[in-house]
Amino acid sequence: STQRTFYDEVGGAETFHKLTARFYEEVAADEVLRPLYPEEDLGPAERRLRMFLEQYWGGPRTYSEERGHPRLRMRHHPFRIGPIERDAWLRCMHTAIGSIDAQTLDDPHRRALVDYMEMAAQSMMNSPV
Ligand code: HEM
Repeated sequence: STQRTFYDEVGGAETFHKLTARFYEEVAADEVLRPLYPEEDLGPAERRLRMFLEQYWGGPRTYSEERGHPRLRMRHHPFRIGPIERDAWLRCMHTAIGSIDAQTLDDPHRRALVDYMEMAAQSMMNSPV
């Protein structure tokens, strides 16, 4: 299709690369989140999040080609995610979104991204504590 998607409107691959790179920089330094990640190398996890977000916002569908249906709640089942983990994840994501300049990400697009992340993080909780 030739339709311009949200992915295109916010600068495509470069923007999603910046976003997830900054997000995982924050995760690497976060004492709540870092211990949850099974691998020493956060690179592969960063790539999976980037592919997922690119696909969700209308970019390449590489995520599903490699990983199948996202089933994100199921894939997070091994990790206890309560309000503390949700808040830590959102803090990292807010920092990452905040690092994208206003030219690339105007207010309406920024708002849509933040709203989605807050909804998604809320829905990933699988523990009351
Ligand atoms: C995977 C933690 C929320 C998207 C993971 C992994 C952890 C984790 C530990 C495994 C790392 C790996 O891929 O090797 C958390 C925590 C969250 C959270 C603590 C707190 C709410 C989210 C949200 C999204 C997301 C809101 C999407 C917007 C993903 C994706 C993967 C992943 C796409 C890789 C799934 C796959 O295996 O293909 N997450 N996550 N996560 N997370 Fe999260």
